[in-house]
Amino acid sequence: MLINLRDICAIAEQGNMAVAAVNSASLEAVRAAVDVAEQTGYPIIIQHAEAHEQVVPLEAVAPMVVGIAERSSATICLNLDHCEHLSYARRALELGFGGVMFDGSALPYEKNVEYSRRVADMCSDFGAGLECELGSMGSREGGASDEGSTAEEAGVIYTDPDQASEFISATGLDILACSFGTVHGIYKGEPHLNFDVLTEIRKRVNVPLVMHGGSGVSDSDYVKAINSGIRKVNYYTYGAKYAGEAVRATIDKAVATNPDAIVYWHDMTCAAYESFVNTFEHIVRVFANGAEPIA
Ligand code: 13P
Repeated sequence: MLINLRDICAIAEQGNMAVAAVNSASLEAVRAAVDVAEQTGYPIIIQHAEAHEQVVPLEAVAPMVVGIAERSSATICLNLDHCEHLSYARRALELGFGGVMFDGSALPYEKNVEYSRRVADMCSDFGAGLECELGSMGSREGGASDEGSTAEEAGVIYTDPDQASEFISATGLDILACSFGTVHGIYKGEPHLNFDVLTEIRKRVNVPLVMHGGSGVSDSDYVKAINSGIRKVNYYTYGAKYAGEAVRATIDKAVATNPDAIVYWHDMTCAAYESFVNTFEHIVRVFANGAEPIA
């Protein structure tokens, strides 16, 4: 069952939990996300990032995810991740996306508000939810392994708690992506999350909050962040890393027994799928934060 971004985050709000938002850069990841949601009974968000257009074109991924999700008993939302172009948002909405994350974080504040507002109007025409970012994650979402670093190196600008409620009313957003110390990509050291910033934002606003750069964070920090108001955790890089390691081990094993082995083979697909299932099942259960499954 497909639902929109606003409604899936409302479920998380009610359960004091977070929904995992995983990226759809491969069929293995999409299938694993849906299977884990069905098996655990917890909702899941499947995201396509505009930066992944060259890997998986929007027009190819949308009908696939919409078809799988509509036939599933699980509660699923298809969300556009880090969209920077209004025309791209419109294409996604026309293809059945239930949410858009408009990323105006590189723009001056007024422009961020102006464009976010226009995407809000577009989303409301399609019954979809809108996520916007205030502050900046620094490095952009693209999934390249050279992204990520410390928050300082990435150029993270914390979300200003005092600006947050004005930004929410000016844009008409449904959920707010907050910058409080996480970064996209592989962490160079231990992530240092600033829970004071998050707590201050939560005190001033009443919309669900989103953690970007969510993979690579410790389980105890996830729980702390969820108890401080995080309702959606964006999780991509480390899931892809673990799946890549599983695929590499499969190739190494095949080549060790037969140097002429055909390695782009179903064993690789199965290894990646199983790795995604294990990773997603773990995070979905941690993010549930003790809430009862909904299905
Ligand atoms: P990671 O790079 O930490 O997986 O973050 C993904 C993300 O925030 C997508 O928007």
